[in-house]
Amino acid sequence: MATTKPTMNFQSGAGLNGETVPELANGEANRNGLMHHLAEEKQTTPEIAMSNILTSLEDSTFSCSCAKEMINGGIDGHLNDCTVRNNKSSLSDTTANVKGPKKDPLPKDEEDFLKAAFQVIMEDGVRKGRDVTQKVVDFHQPDELRSLLDLEIRDAPEDHQRLIKHMKDTIKYSVRTGHPRFFNQLFSGKNTYALAGQWLTETLNTSQYTFEVAPVFTIMESVVLHKMRDVVGYTAGDGIFCPGGSISNLCALNVARYRYMPDIKKTGLFGLPRLVVFTSKQSHYSIKKAASVLGIGTNNVVLVNCDERGKMITSDLEAHVLRVKAEGAVPFFVNCTSGTTVLGAYDPLEEVADVCEKHGLWMHVDAAWGGGVMMSPKYRASRMRGVERSDSITWNPHKMMGAGQQCSALLLKHENLLQHCNEAKAKYLFQQDKFYDVSYDTGDKSIQCGRKVDVFKLWLMWKAKGNQGYHQDMDAIFDKTRYLVEKVKAREGFKLVLDEPECSNVCFWYIPPSLRGKEDEADYKDKLHQVAPKIKERMVLSGTMLVGYQPLGNKPNFFRQVFCSPAVTEEDLDFLIDEIERLGEDL
Ligand SMILES: Cc1ncc(COP(=O)(O)O)c(C=O)c1O
Repeated sequence: MATTKPTMNFQSGAGLNGETVPELANGEANRNGLMHHLAEEKQTTPEIAMSNILTSLEDSTFSCSCAKEMINGGIDGHLNDCTVRNNKSSLSDTTANVKGPKKDPLPKDEEDFLKAAFQVIMEDGVRKGRDVTQKVVDFHQPDELRSLLDLEIRDAPEDHQRLIKHMKDTIKYSVRTGHPRFFNQLFSGKNTYALAGQWLTETLNTSQYTFEVAPVFTIMESVVLHKMRDVVGYTAGDGIFCPGGSISNLCALNVARYRYMPDIKKTGLFGLPRLVVFTSKQSHYSIKKAASVLGIGTNNVVLVNCDERGKMITSDLEAHVLRVKAEGAVPFFVNCTSGTTVLGAYDPLEEVADVCEKHGLWMHVDAAWGGGVMMSPKYRASRMRGVERSDSITWNPHKMMGAGQQCSALLLKHENLLQHCNEAKAKYLFQQDKFYDVSYDTGDKSIQCGRKVDVFKLWLMWKAKGNQGYHQDMDAIFDKTRYLVEKVKAREGFKLVLDEPECSNVCFWYIPPSLRGKEDEADYKDKLHQVAPKIKERMVLSGTMLVGYQPLGNKPNFFRQVFCSPAVTEEDLDFLIDEIERLGEDL
């Protein structure tokens, strides 16, 4: 028996379980005909059958008064109207009026397992994961870790107790990125609402390509992308959630190239002129990777010079554009970075926009990291003025906005371009003769087929915070950055790489007593270069916190502390400084 909803079947002249009901099909259905049909179908009396149906309809799809009206006045005239009204019925109506096996869909042992698993996740994963008295990481070298974990997959199944133990072990030896002292990556913290959102998404386990299998998430994605475009300042446009900032950047480059050379979709690279991309020396490596993947070639990615604060020098950009044109190549894409990965620099968007307009270039903003600042009325203008003049932007709410891995939006000022660029019109998935508005099947805008639902966690979190909550979060992140900057400035043995960082990256050297006052010695830089990795090793092994380090240009290794979580306290930051000193003062 088909498990169909009454709404559609009535409209098409079919019975509640999918079979044709002549009375309905020819429009002459009446109260008796319907009741007798239902009674036969359910093997009961017509009155009881209708009463049962009424109850189930009122409980479920037919929250409107249609069913009652059908009983009292016949069906004619109600059917179409009813369909429309039923479309507005409560989202919680999920009961299908069908016969099914009389067994619990969630067997007791599976329910018990899920409850036990949930408890482990809550206690070991969530509660301990946020507890400063717990280690951020219980580090073991790979071979040792292999021996600590039972990773072998065997022929025989393992029981629930063992599986729960595996879950506990997995958490035990994993890095607690929600820990208040995890400062290592451009994501951290674990927002409660985002987490709940992730659980729900995992439970529903759908794919964000058609309205058919992701009705709520499809319209939710549209609403959230619209909202994000409003924040950027695009008055129209399009967008899509992509699996991470790198892929968002790649998709931006792809769509930009398609705009300039739409034939490329069919003819490929053969016979094209040399296309050239511009990005700053301190931009993210994903731009080079994207150029490589798309056949543009990394040699055709021009790295524009930055000033001492890490910001793109626009005069250098324009000089390169002119040079490339003179060489007979075709410049077409400029990537600006809003929040560079290491120093957190914001490129001068207004100036770059002027260059792009003058030379007819696509302007993309990689705000994967620093885009969160657009949510702060206090800090936005000084960092991202001019962003609305760009053609596209990558913005990762999984980074500074705390939405959890992964949540990355590619937003465009242009409508329909994504669709035309990426669509393949697969007939098994994107049928054009579906009974709903197929423009809601947004999956063909993507380079993927199946697409994870990344929007829900962000939507739920944004709902929970409101815009105001995000304003406060961003201000808190930037204000605490200032606290740390002042602290590092005042502390003996610490030296900032940038005195006034623009984003929440605080980059600094720790200079152990043995190196202080020896800046002029020939091997000073070499020795300083070795300090951060040594402290990092000790830090990981003691598990008290995690902070990243790296060199940059001719600068020796330095620490990069990054804030993503408004939950980080001044006490955590005091600890960071004290701990680095404790771990490194004998070096
Ligand atoms: C500026 C910038 N762009 C892009 C990315 C790539 O983002 P994802 O790791 O989500 O691919 C990063 C990652 O750190 C980044 O800092």
